[in-house]
Amino acid sequence: MKNIKIEIGIKLCDFTELPKEEQELLTEAIRATDNSYANYSKFYVGAALRLNNGKIMIGANQENAAFPSGLCAERTAIFAAQANYPDQPIRTLAVAAKNSDGLLKQPVTPCGACRQVILEIEDRYKSPIRILLYGTEGVYCIDSVKDLLPLSFIDENMR
Ligand code: THU
Repeated sequence: MKNIKIEIGIKLCDFTELPKEEQELLTEAIRATDNSYANYSKFYVGAALRLNNGKIMIGANQENAAFPSGLCAERTAIFAAQANYPDQPIRTLAVAAKNSDGLLKQPVTPCGACRQVILEIEDRYKSPIRILLYGTEGVYCIDSVKDLLPLSFIDENMR
């Protein structure tokens, strides 16, 4: 038997030490939490992404009385971006969330389904996506979704 250890890379950064354009994207993600429709969970998530052409698009979670019909903030932003700009890789994705106490202290972390969708976009354009996860006490900065999804499954794994 052999133990396999997998290392992932995550940086915990101060908002203020991030480059201006990443601060701007995080600010858009925070703003997008206001567009959330979270009638059931009362957990308001915002996402903002920057395409390769520099354009920023936002998303927010949209819930439904029939629970599985809702969608996370990350996927609303990603699918809208892909539907409107199918030739544009996503360069950076920022996520923020708030509950009744306000913005989360700890960085919000994407669900498994969103991680899989982000992976598909990385694979589609053969280009890593930088991910910024906001918390009021620090921001997780990740250079590729592969760091959030070890042993991931993509098209190539079927060959
Ligand atoms: N949610 C997101 O939008 N993104 C995440 O990263 C985690 C969870 C949403 C889905 C649902 O509307 C609510 O948060 C509670 O799970």
